[in-house]
Amino acid sequence: MPWSSDRVEAVGRNKSATKQEKYFKLTFHELLPILCSAAVPIVICVYTAITTYEQTKEAERRQFDLKQVAEERRLFDLTQANQLRQQLLYDQFIDNMYTLDKDGQLNDSAKPWAFPNARYWTAHRQWEPEHKGHSLIFLKKIDLIGRQCHGPEGQLKRLDDIIQLNQLNFDNIRLKSQNSNMHPLNMTCIRFDEVSLINVSFTFVNLDYASFDASSLNGSKFEESSLIGTIFNATQLHGTDFSNSDLQDAHLYNVILSTVKITEEQRKQAKFTNITLLNASNADKSTTTTGKL
Ligand SMILES: *[C@@H]1O[C@H](CO)[C@@H](O)[C@H](O)[C@H]1NC(C)=O
Ligand SMILES: *[C@@H]1O[C@H](CO)[C@@H](O)[C@H](O)[C@H]1NC(C)=O
Ligand SMILES: *[C@@H]1O[C@H](CO)[C@@H](O)[C@H](O)[C@H]1NC(C)=O
Ligand SMILES: *[C@@H]1O[C@H](CO)[C@@H](O)[C@H](O)[C@H]1NC(C)=O
Ligand SMILES: *[C@@H]1O[C@H](CO)[C@@H](O)[C@H](O)[C@H]1NC(C)=O
Ligand SMILES: *[C@@H]1O[C@H](CO)[C@@H](O)[C@H](O)[C@H]1NC(C)=O
Ligand SMILES: *[C@@H]1O[C@H](CO)[C@@H](O)[C@H](O)[C@H]1NC(C)=O
Repeated sequence: MPWSSDRVEAVGRNKSATKQEKYFKLTFHELLPILCSAAVPIVICVYTAITTYEQTKEAERRQFDLKQVAEERRLFDLTQANQLRQQLLYDQFIDNMYTLDKDGQLNDSAKPWAFPNARYWTAHRQWEPEHKGHSLIFLKKIDLIGRQCHGPEGQLKRLDDIIQLNQLNFDNIRLKSQNSNMHPLNMTCIRFDEVSLINVSFTFVNLDYASFDASSLNGSKFEESSLIGTIFNATQLHGTDFSNSDLQDAHLYNVILSTVKITEEQRKQAKFTNITLLNASNADKSTTTTGKL
């Protein structure tokens, strides 16, 4: 009978298991004092070592986090401090100009306006592009640059700028109308002569009858701007982008046009004298004397 033999086997197994358990219980009780005296301290020791290691790691991690937070905080403070300093310098400049105006230093009789120019140069040296851009808008607003001039060319009468921008650096500035698509930023008749204007962007700016003589406009862009009657004489125009700006009667003298982004329409609007159309791809140099392209 198969079921009875199974049963016998099961009983037999139970018996031997109980024996083993007993034996184990015994030996375990016997071993316990030994375990307590030797192994447990080792276990505790290992446990403590691991815990200490973990705690050290955790502390290091926390310290690292704190360091990182401190570093971020420091950079934030530095940026804040720098911004504050820039703003203070700017406000100070405005106050100085107000005082100079009251003292008659901005009158035509005060030509060549040494004090206002010295003030501007000193402040300008310390500004970042943002405030350099703001300063141009301010100077134009109070009529110290781009003073009344009238187009078209025939009756063009330009007054000397009270603040001369010559030899200053305006790289990376962004000039943009405040209310884009309503009123362009008025920057008419400004003399950007011998000025560095690399990587500058003009967006919705009125630059009619302004001039950029002997300046660098490398990598700059004129978007939705007006350049009516504007003069570019010996201006570096490497990669300059005239985008969709109006170049009606603009006059380009002594310039290299090979990398300029200029449309067919703009070529028809502007006048060109002694220009180089050197193309890197075909290395073909051609010059025209006067006229439209
Ligand atoms: C500067 O011009 C204003 C008027 O434009 C005049 O009132 C003032 O007296 C002049 N100041 C000097 C120092 O000439
Ligand atoms: C721009 O400014 C000039 C003088 O700085 C002024 O004569 C002219 O009317 C202004 N143009 C516009 C459109 O406001
Ligand atoms: C150009 O100007 C932009 C915006 O101000 C700036 O992010 C970028 O770094 C400038 N490029 C160079 C080559 O200076
Ligand atoms: C262009 O600039 C040169 C010097 O850089 C000057 O001699 C010349 O008269 C200028 N031309 C015009 C039309 O302004
Ligand atoms: C402007 O670009 C031209 C052509 O690459 C280069 O010869 C000239 O040195 C650049 N000007 C400046 C101020 O980097
Ligand atoms: C023509 O323009 C080049 C620069 O592109 C200049 O070196 C040269 O002197 C100019 N020639 C005259 C006659 O102005
Ligand atoms: C100059 O080269 C570009 C391609 O690099 C080409 O599209 C353009 O038509 C060339 N311009 C002239 C005037 O040859």
